[in-house]
Amino acid sequence: MPMSRRVLVVGSGGREHAIAWKLTQDGAEVLVAPGNAGTAAIAENVPVAATDIAGLLEVARRRSVDLTVVGPEAALVAGIVDEFTAAGQRIFGPTKRAAQIEGSKSYCKQILHRGDVPTAMFREFRSAARAREYLEAREDVPVVVKADGLAAGKGVFVCGDRATALAAVQTIADDPALAAAAGSILVEERLDGVEVSVLAITDGRTIVTLPPLQDHKAAHDGDEGPNTGGMGAYSPTPFVDDALLAEIEARILVPTVHAMRRAKTPFQGVLYAGLMLTSQGPKVLEFNARFGDPECEPLLMRLDSSLLELLDATVDRQLESCPPPRWRDAAAVSVVMASEGYPGPVSKGQPIRGLDAAATLPDVQVFHAATRLVDGVVVADGGRVLAVTALGSSLARAKLQAYTAVKAIRWAGAWCRKDISDKGLNRERELLVSEAAAEETATS
Ligand code: AMP
Ligand code: GLY
Repeated sequence: MPMSRRVLVVGSGGREHAIAWKLTQDGAEVLVAPGNAGTAAIAENVPVAATDIAGLLEVARRRSVDLTVVGPEAALVAGIVDEFTAAGQRIFGPTKRAAQIEGSKSYCKQILHRGDVPTAMFREFRSAARAREYLEAREDVPVVVKADGLAAGKGVFVCGDRATALAAVQTIADDPALAAAAGSILVEERLDGVEVSVLAITDGRTIVTLPPLQDHKAAHDGDEGPNTGGMGAYSPTPFVDDALLAEIEARILVPTVHAMRRAKTPFQGVLYAGLMLTSQGPKVLEFNARFGDPECEPLLMRLDSSLLELLDATVDRQLESCPPPRWRDAAAVSVVMASEGYPGPVSKGQPIRGLDAAATLPDVQVFHAATRLVDGVVVADGGRVLAVTALGSSLARAKLQAYTAVKAIRWAGAWCRKDISDKGLNRERELLVSEAAAEETATS
């Protein structure tokens, strides 16, 4: 028997639980820093924070870790990959400079411009006063106001008119954390259409495009309510067929990876494109420098081949010779169960019941997003608590199974969106109707 590989997964969310789960299936021995109650059940939690780069490096050295995988963006933007690489440690993820594709909206726009990649038109302003002047002077049209820099989803304001846009500029100027993150303010054309996510793994040269997904960023059903980290995701999405996926790869992913290499900030890791499918074709809303959460959960449940092999090939710049990943011919739906109050402040510590019953359901994985063990009991420990994920032979079946598992689980104040994947199901129906109509025309 070959010695099993030791992999360190950095982070504590549902994404990291899913990565640890998949790597365990690939035969790896997995450490998670800091992890949660879910990762503790399948791997070894190490009590080091995801942003404590020196502490993580010490764990990697002391425990002879041979691959580190970084989940959250903060550690990437802080330069964890540069420090690990300088210390001779193998690590999956982009360098500090390449992670600016997520960390700086202004850098992202420069790369998109260089690569001639379709995106919303924008103007960048060094001060709130300049942004205000611009908004006052131009036509009153819908815009999106964005603070440059990482703002955990709080720095983006979609505005229907000038008054709302001016108020958004004021909100950025008035919020000390946002103003600090915002080296500048971007005012962007508002794009209309359907939003989808397409992720790719790249070693900086070769690109492996993963199946398309749809996230649900708004807190409540029907895409109402405040923006969140994501309330659920499903894959594949019928909004992106093979031809459109090929177009997205050719017009968006490939030119971005090449533009980053030409800019001497080559990207290695997961490049996540948030896209708007507009009447003029797909356009980039944003890039992330990592797996999405909860997008990672349905993707990894569908991945039939080894994740470890893909990560290794990326770190070793050998993706070109790595066999392409195989995907289960099934749909996957992930429903986030959240604490009362999310995305605002939440109270913690409520015991969670029904996890064992949910775990016995076929084709279900309950990934923990914010949980902790207290005296052997799993308790809620944050806003997004669980990502309940199921596979099904159709999207409808996967949805049904995910919500069957959700029903088995409860804690005081728990809630979730009830309509995760519904846009996809409606789209499937529309496609069936138009196919039937086309057939009828052809035979009549
Ligand atoms: P971002 O953090 O840039 O992804 O923005 C968060 C969310 O704001 C996106 O998921 C979109 O729903 C929305 N958004 C961002 N930019 C635009 C845009 N130019 N037009 C319309 N919606 C946008
Ligand atoms: N679910 C959105 C993200 O991970 O950025």
